[in-house]
Amino acid sequence: MTATVIDGKAFAAKVRNQVGAHVARLKEDHGITPGLAVVLVGEDPASEVYVRSKGKMTVEVGMASFTHRLDADTSEADLLALVDQLNNDPNVHGILVQLPLPDHLDSDLVINSIDPAKDVDGFHISNVGLLGTGQKSMVPCTPLGCLMMLRDHHGSLSGMNAVVVGRSNIVGKPMAQLLLGDSCTVTIAHSRTRDLAAVVRQADIVVAAVGRPEMVPGDWIKPGATVIDVGINRIDKPEGGTRLVGDVAYESCAAVAGAITPVPGGVGPMTIACLLANTVTACCRAHGLAEPDGLTA
Ligand code: GUN
Repeated sequence: MTATVIDGKAFAAKVRNQVGAHVARLKEDHGITPGLAVVLVGEDPASEVYVRSKGKMTVEVGMASFTHRLDADTSEADLLALVDQLNNDPNVHGILVQLPLPDHLDSDLVINSIDPAKDVDGFHISNVGLLGTGQKSMVPCTPLGCLMMLRDHHGSLSGMNAVVVGRSNIVGKPMAQLLLGDSCTVTIAHSRTRDLAAVVRQADIVVAAVGRPEMVPGDWIKPGATVIDVGINRIDKPEGGTRLVGDVAYESCAAVAGAITPVPGGVGPMTIACLLANTVTACCRAHGLAEPDGLTA
């Protein structure tokens, strides 16, 4: 079997178009421009790239983009004061504090100081609790993107065996909650799971989010399964230079799977598209207006 390649880049462009159309309607019919504020503390190069890309795409879909760059030695009090200001700014509907924060700042404290209604990352403890109890919440962007691709490929996910490899708060745990919400039978596996190969072989859906290059080989994959690769790892090429690989061994998995997301061009582009979708959703909720169809969990 050769897997269908799930084109995350094309799908993300479609999601951004939907978001853009909704933003245009909000402006035309209600005079409202959704706004996203991104806060970056320090100069982590990878974070810089993400933040620039977020700002650019926010503007491209017609939303207002507010980027706040703070020095690496910013005090916790100053950062909390900025979050408070954004919480109270009616032009800001979504707030994202880029992680990781410098070590002297308490990430949990900062994230939990964001107004949950503006928490477009879905990291606030209230949103985590709402998602876990099946209530309306803001949903973390990467797992939301994975869910959208799975629903698009399969239609209903009901009754499928899903194995999520990785237990992070950002991807693994919320992914498991979303799959459970769509009536999958869900296993969360991780680096300490006994006989991980046997666990993954049971899966109709595998979501790999462990941050280890090419950790999942093709002979762990049940023939015909759908493989969603959340990993983005830069590795050295034998001939020199580097390349990006996921958490699954692409060639060997693609030979067995029914469908697979590539790296790059799979899950990655969906994350920012879902951030924009969450911002428009937050804006609609703030104004008591109808939310866009198909862009929420
Ligand atoms: N750093 C890496 N991924 C993310 C993300 O999804 N949200 C935030 N806030 N920071 C990140």
